[in-house]
Amino acid sequence: MTNLIVAVDGPAAAGKGELTRRLARHFNLARLDTGLLYRAVGWAVLQANGDPADEGVALAKAKALTAADLENPDLRSEAAGSAASKVAAIPAVRTQLIDFQRDFAKNPPGGAAGAVLDGRDIGTVICPDANAKLFITATAEIRAERRLKELQAKGVEAIGSAVLRDMMERDARDAQRSVAPLEPAKDAFVLDTSDLDADAVFAAAVDFISRKVT
Ligand code: DC
Repeated sequence: MTNLIVAVDGPAAAGKGELTRRLARHFNLARLDTGLLYRAVGWAVLQANGDPADEGVALAKAKALTAADLENPDLRSEAAGSAASKVAAIPAVRTQLIDFQRDFAKNPPGGAAGAVLDGRDIGTVICPDANAKLFITATAEIRAERRLKELQAKGVEAIGSAVLRDMMERDARDAQRSVAPLEPAKDAFVLDTSDLDADAVFAAAVDFISRKVT
């Protein structure tokens, strides 16, 4: 196996982040959180006082994106997340970001043995030939509960019902957009993490990937 490519898709707060960090360590893979690309574009539009749903400004920001932009801690904010889901619905923005993601997968930095990409359309659009595809999901209620705990751990005041409403709105935008809607690839291993802890999710994913690549 020369370059192992693992695609991990699924809705927000399903556990993709922790899983892909652990998979990266286990299989010596470079990791790309592709949501950061959309967050960086959305954030850049907000910084320019633009409307994230405006194709002209969003596409200009997508064209100007550099790897260094992904390091900005502000990208984790709820404002960046909400703007991201709007720029992500613009087909021209998605097309503009394809090459960056494919290039990362084919030429992973740091001498890694391959790449793991965390996103929504990695197995379906970005890397349809990935060696292993996982679709990580959980009920909206469980994901909202996890997100609420994360926010509280960061000292952010949040209300459970508002977090759940936001989660459902973002799910609807991601699932209903005309290009690359959130859906599992036909050959993806669908893992519902509602009743699983992080160790069980990791073990199931390692088992699936190992069977795929041997
Ligand atoms: O995973 P996240 O919350 O950082 O993603 C932010 C937004 O970007 C979310 O609304 C979904 C969108 N996104 C996407 O459309 N395609 C990806 N590959 C990754 C994220």
